[in-house]
Amino acid sequence: MEINVDTGKILEKNYELLVLGIFEEEKYHGVNGIIDKALDKEISQKLKTLEFNPKLRKTCLITTYGKIGIKRILLVGLGKRKDFSLESIRMASSSAINSIQELGITSCTFSILGDKATKISFDQIVENTVVGCELALYQFNLYKTEDQNIKKINKLLFFVDTPKSVGAVKSSISIAQIMDNGVNLARNLSNMPSSDATPTQIAEKAKIIADESGMTFSVLNKKEMEKFSMGGIINVSKGSSQPPKLVILEHKGGGTARPIVLVGKGITFDSGGISLKPSEKMEEMKHDKAGAATVIGTMQTVAQLKLPLNIIGIAPLTENLPGGSAYKPGDVLKMCNGKTVEVINTDAEGRLILADALAFASRYKPQAVIDLATLTGACVIALGSFATGLLGNDDNLKKRITSGGEITGERVWELPLWDDYKELLKSDIADMKNVGGRPGGVITAASFLSNFVDYPWAHLDIAGTAWTQSNVGVKPYNPKGATGVGVRLITEVLRSWET
Ligand code: BES
Ligand code: ZN
Ligand code: ZN
Repeated sequence: MEINVDTGKILEKNYELLVLGIFEEEKYHGVNGIIDKALDKEISQKLKTLEFNPKLRKTCLITTYGKIGIKRILLVGLGKRKDFSLESIRMASSSAINSIQELGITSCTFSILGDKATKISFDQIVENTVVGCELALYQFNLYKTEDQNIKKINKLLFFVDTPKSVGAVKSSISIAQIMDNGVNLARNLSNMPSSDATPTQIAEKAKIIADESGMTFSVLNKKEMEKFSMGGIINVSKGSSQPPKLVILEHKGGGTARPIVLVGKGITFDSGGISLKPSEKMEEMKHDKAGAATVIGTMQTVAQLKLPLNIIGIAPLTENLPGGSAYKPGDVLKMCNGKTVEVINTDAEGRLILADALAFASRYKPQAVIDLATLTGACVIALGSFATGLLGNDDNLKKRITSGGEITGERVWELPLWDDYKELLKSDIADMKNVGGRPGGVITAASFLSNFVDYPWAHLDIAGTAWTQSNVGVKPYNPKGATGVGVRLITEVLRSWET
């Protein structure tokens, strides 16, 4: 989307539509005050008569009938000033843009939401307004042959009354656009049907992204995986005719510093394998590559933001299908770090491919590793769709992620990774089993992974947050389908990284 900045005198403008943010219980100043006066106090009246209640996300359209040059004003509620946050800005801007989209208007102008006297900086307001708008307008319509000519908003303008802030606004816009492109790339990869997003096709796409964004690309094929004894990913891939791939993207912005490694689960389709899943909602398992999608989206983002860090993204990619050559319950696998695993359930495949990727990550002598995975149905039960599960072995890393979650609205909730849970994975014939029973399923999955790390590590179970299953509780900037969760969270963690 084309986004520009405009300045000057608001009453001399003839915008199609101007969005004004309104706090509850407040008098107007600045742009809001000028417009209210020019419209003979119509805005104040609407609030007085309770025709418009500016609770967060509420909107109200006012037609100006030639009283001023601007044709329409859209009021958007910001809630109470004391509760105003970055999430309020994303919620308000995305609610506004959704109602403008319904009006069929293709361009609009935003005044600075919640401007003046808030504890949130101008840059943050602009950045999060753009994020709210662009993420709300995302559509996955690659396969739609009808309804293609619905008018889409393609131009956004920011009005600032102080010309000296134009430069700062422009740079916040471009940072936000880089992040939105990363999120929407992750959403596209996750929303893509498995037949058009095979491990090979995703690896090809990752190569293009690496070339465009100045990253190093490499890929391990089955042969190399055998050399590294990656029994997890190789065995999971055996039921499929699609060869597995392990993609490695490297952003080198940190000189000789040790890298931060991101690992993402890339099951391009999870049928459960021989431990077949029920068919109801099985189509949603195309999203089982969301972790890998987020890692690829985040890598594009950090490379384009030119972060001064060395960051490596690893995406193990394979299908999990039943078939004559599929791996089976009872099989014993030898993993990348030499440990052995007895397979009890072939549907607990994510932890097997992650285990290899995490053990492989050790070669890079990382300062920290973060993995993202749609790992367990148990996480959906435990936390629902409002929080990502967080587990790990390093308090400092977990703290960074938790505060990144508060800033980006991609909130995380910690679960304990006590040794007690490891007991549940004891096997009679191998070093461990791949499942530990239903109780504490999020934790036993993470305990399993902990056998394959020897560095500061955090695990994010995004099973409940990676895509929206119903419209209940969906945020206005997360349309139905893949959310791209984790791209903004991890980017935030890395933007504020201090060694
Ligand atoms: N991909 C699933 C987890 C999942 C389920 C994500 C539902 C999102 C929504 C994973 O591979 C899986 O099937 N896990 C099993 C583990 C069990 C066999 C121990 C599960 O959660 O049932
Ligand atoms: Zn599974
Ligand atoms: Zn899975």
